[in-house]
Amino acid sequence: MNQSLHGDRCKKRRLPSSFPLGVETITEMNRKIGNFIIRGWKIEDAPSLSKHANNRKIWIHLRDAFPHPYVLQDAQSFILNAIHEHPKTLFAIATSEEVIGSIGMEIGKDVHRLTAELGYWLAESYWGKGIMSEAVKVVTEYALQDLSLYRIHAAPYAVNPASAKVLKKAGFRFEGTLHSSAIKDGHILDQHLYSCTRKRSTFNWGKGDEPPMAHCSSASPDR
Ligand SMILES: CC(C)(COP(=O)(O)OP(=O)(O)OC[C@H]1O[C@@H](n2cnc3c(N)ncnc32)[C@H](O)[C@@H]1OP(=O)(O)O)[C@@H](O)C(=O)NCCC(=O)NCCS
Repeated sequence: MNQSLHGDRCKKRRLPSSFPLGVETITEMNRKIGNFIIRGWKIEDAPSLSKHANNRKIWIHLRDAFPHPYVLQDAQSFILNAIHEHPKTLFAIATSEEVIGSIGMEIGKDVHRLTAELGYWLAESYWGKGIMSEAVKVVTEYALQDLSLYRIHAAPYAVNPASAKVLKKAGFRFEGTLHSSAIKDGHILDQHLYSCTRKRSTFNWGKGDEPPMAHCSSASPDR
């Protein structure tokens, strides 16, 4: 996978004034990653979504809100929600034929409204090809640049080294261990917190200037 992944994208639309910074943003994702694409959801994605998402090896690493078993109706309601949300935060990872994964974020509330938590999964038959590491880079860039957020974070269970590796490869910084912070499948688990932020010094309180982008890099951590 290389930088040619970053194909064309997107249409612009003005966000409602309730959105944190009231800026224009890209609301339709359409980015190539090799033979795959990251794009908005379509209702016809439901069968492939439910087929690939219905996998205990995926469920075991996600929140309990992710259904298991994952049936067609689960896929349809997820997609309907994704289609109607604004700004767009939920994306499909797809081949020309079908959806093979999902990546999205949940934007925080109140004082956390300029942050988002990232979540993702990929169909098992596509694991280990570098797809998610590239997808995380694309969606993080979208979040920091187009949605004007300041921090993206993810907290994989400590028993999920593949996800930690994905975040590291995407330039996320390890911030620490959230001890005994989750219960999954009857087990109390630690979570490893990773983040990608803009540099703190670029925050222009109330001046209205758009600060320069700080690209995530483990080599030059944020201050
Ligand atoms: C985690 C997941 C998204 C990774 O997707 P992917 O496209 O296979 O990831 P990538 O190929 O970009 O990178 C995975 C890296 O982890 C490594 N890896 C895989 N299993 C590993 C393990 N058990 N221990 C250590 N590293 C591991 C791979 O070798 C690869 O690193 P490399 O490129 O240096 O070889 C996918 O496995 C998945 O959907 N898992 C279930 C759901 C999930 O865990 N979601 C994240 C919740 S936080």
